[in-house]
Amino acid sequence: MANKILKKQALRSDLFFFTVAAPEIAKKAKAGQFVVVRVDEEGERIPLSLARINPEEGTLGLVVQTVGVTSTKFSELNEGDSLSDIAGPMGHQTPIENYGRVVLVGGGFGAAPMYPIGKALKEAGNTVTSVIGARSADLLIYEDELAEFSDQVLVSTDDGSKGHKGLVTEVLKQEIETNGADFIMAIGPAIMMKFVALTTKPYNVKTFVSLNPIMVDGTGMCGACRVSVGGQTKFGCTDGPDFDGHLVDWDLLMSRQRTYLTEEKEAMERHECNCVHHS
Ligand SMILES: Cc1cc2nc3c(=O)[nH]c(=O)nc-3n(C[C@H](O)[C@H](O)[C@H](O)COP(=O)(O)OP(=O)(O)OC[C@H]3O[C@@H](n4cnc5c(N)ncnc54)[C@H](O)[C@@H]3O)c2cc1C
Ligand code: FES
Repeated sequence: MANKILKKQALRSDLFFFTVAAPEIAKKAKAGQFVVVRVDEEGERIPLSLARINPEEGTLGLVVQTVGVTSTKFSELNEGDSLSDIAGPMGHQTPIENYGRVVLVGGGFGAAPMYPIGKALKEAGNTVTSVIGARSADLLIYEDELAEFSDQVLVSTDDGSKGHKGLVTEVLKQEIETNGADFIMAIGPAIMMKFVALTTKPYNVKTFVSLNPIMVDGTGMCGACRVSVGGQTKFGCTDGPDFDGHLVDWDLLMSRQRTYLTEEKEAMERHECNCVHHS
């Protein structure tokens, strides 16, 4: 049955992997695209990247990090529950070519949607290095999954509990200097993608990033997701989500992401309050 949750796995206490039945979308979806999900009929729409695409089974893999009301409501669903609706596939696919040597950089939940992109890049003939980072070893995700197709997986943690002690950008710089790179793909928090782009700029390596501006309709109508790329206004939903990281106006993106902070905080307080009263 479409929209039904077939499997739920906790990756961390705030991060869940859901396998969802969505045969029509799974048939058409390509690496790098996303869906827009409504958890319930009254709920807002949230964009989520495709972490797995399985056309044979008719399923999608979605990773949900609990940050506000809707993602929390989603994470509270269980196997057998259904989402109200899933629209997609949205956006363009990542430009998959044989570039030669590719480095993938995944931060936070970004390591999961990197899976179909990295797999497609490997199948296109690239040598693939995956770099993942987290504050500490227990917060790392997707190391084993990325290892399924990567030639090497490099890890960094802020506290040095696993791999390089420090930032993913330090590992990336080292990798470019040691082995060279022809294409970089980064998915993660805007601040991480900004610094990935700044790291690769001096080496002039083509660098793509998967942007996560706030979205409302996901169809190019509302303008909420507008970003500035190379001095031109683009929509994250219909022109993206991938863009040339060297051309993105990062400060504008980050300031627009903070637009609804007060409203989001109030909505979360109302949600927590309702949960307490109902428990
Ligand atoms: C193309 C795209 C793909 C995405 N893929 C994933 C994914 O695979 N997994 C996942 O967990 N999240 C993903 N996100 C982010 C996800 O859509 C937001 O976390 C979600 O909309 C937050 O909704 P909420 O009601 O739970 O929180 P809200 O109360 O709306 O927001 C809570 C906090 O999250 C921040 N936030 C809100 N919207 C976004 C956003 N679009 N991007 C980043 N931060 C945001 C807010 O600034 C705030 O700090 C993606 C976003 C985009 C645009
Ligand atoms: S989300 Fe409305 S234009 Fe992109």
